[in-house]
Amino acid sequence: MPALEHAREEFRRRFGGEPRAFRAPGRVNLIGGHVDYNEGWVLPIAIDRSCYVLAQRRNDRKLRIHSAHFDQTLDFGPDDPRLSTVHWSSYVRGVAWSLARDGPALPGADLLIESDVPFGAGLSSSAALEVAVGLALLALADRTMDPVALALACQRAENEYVGMRCGIMDQLAACFGRQGCALLIDCRTLAVEPLPIDETRVRIVVADTRMKHALAASEYNQRRSECEEAAARIRQTHPAVRTLRDIAWPELESLSRSWPESIRRRARHITTEIARVHAAVRALRQSDFETLGRLMSESHDSLDADYQVTSPELNIMVAIARELPGFLGARMTGGGFGGSTVSLARAEHAETFASELARRYEAATGRRPDVYICRASDGAAELPQTLFHEQPAAAPRSERSSQ
Ligand code: GLA
Repeated sequence: MPALEHAREEFRRRFGGEPRAFRAPGRVNLIGGHVDYNEGWVLPIAIDRSCYVLAQRRNDRKLRIHSAHFDQTLDFGPDDPRLSTVHWSSYVRGVAWSLARDGPALPGADLLIESDVPFGAGLSSSAALEVAVGLALLALADRTMDPVALALACQRAENEYVGMRCGIMDQLAACFGRQGCALLIDCRTLAVEPLPIDETRVRIVVADTRMKHALAASEYNQRRSECEEAAARIRQTHPAVRTLRDIAWPELESLSRSWPESIRRRARHITTEIARVHAAVRALRQSDFETLGRLMSESHDSLDADYQVTSPELNIMVAIARELPGFLGARMTGGGFGGSTVSLARAEHAETFASELARRYEAATGRRPDVYICRASDGAAELPQTLFHEQPAAAPRSERSSQ
């Protein structure tokens, strides 16, 4: 039985009634690591793994939420105090809090959450959850919101309610995903342009190292502060510079000679990465996958040496990928300090590329990774009731090479 049909039965059993269903995908970023909060350009795809929220309106203002993954049900009201630590429900509460700030009070709701975006894998399970919950709460309240505003409301939930100072990439990717396309996002103007990827020639292989370091969130926030410090230093002589987007490395190279080495390296990563994104977009437009792959690999090296957000396991996964037939490029994706890599592989080698990557990583680390060939997918939406009966919650088995 498809997992979503199972979720609906679970919903009936726990809450009674017939829910509506909403879906938002996770993402991998092909290139543009840690560039979004510097207002640069990024190139993610929405993946074929999603968070599903089944929802119905309540007559009071309470939210009653059940997580299938954690097998936990919680109730909370709009005036309940915040939790002192981050919990899976913080993302749901945060979105309700954020949406209530932009409009009339929300009605209460019963929500059942089911997701096949792995947690802590750098595939943006939290943005998928936020956007799916946001869509559900808005729909139950008969409110509409344009997708950019929804993405911003979800980002605010994560920044101000959860305390993770993420950029806007993940939420925009979850909202604007397009089947068969990467998304060129300008993180200053928030313009999104879908760029087709010829999936008959190349495939995107995601590999979860199954390792996430405990300090990932605080290290992430620290990187963001370091970038802000770099921009503030530049502004002393170049007042028009708002973020690192506004300056290129050749100019910054001489300007930053006397800076602390760590700040200089962070700024070098961001400014050279932005140049790589532009080159990658040119390559993608011409279906020049060798160049796109090379730029992805350079991105990884810069995230490792200058931005220092990789991990031994991510480096092992990338090093193994580089040895495999069909390899075009590979890098870590997401915030880093563990999580997943994204590789670009020639389509005809993709199956063996994925299975060999999994086999060799396990041999090298003793840890079984989750490796799968993903498809660029559509963004968040309510599922039509007819689809509801058929939609599998997981990618079709043939698309996966989970070891
Ligand atoms: C996390 C954040 C994003 C982005 C990436 C790094 O996924 O949520 O906003 O900064 O890290 O590119």
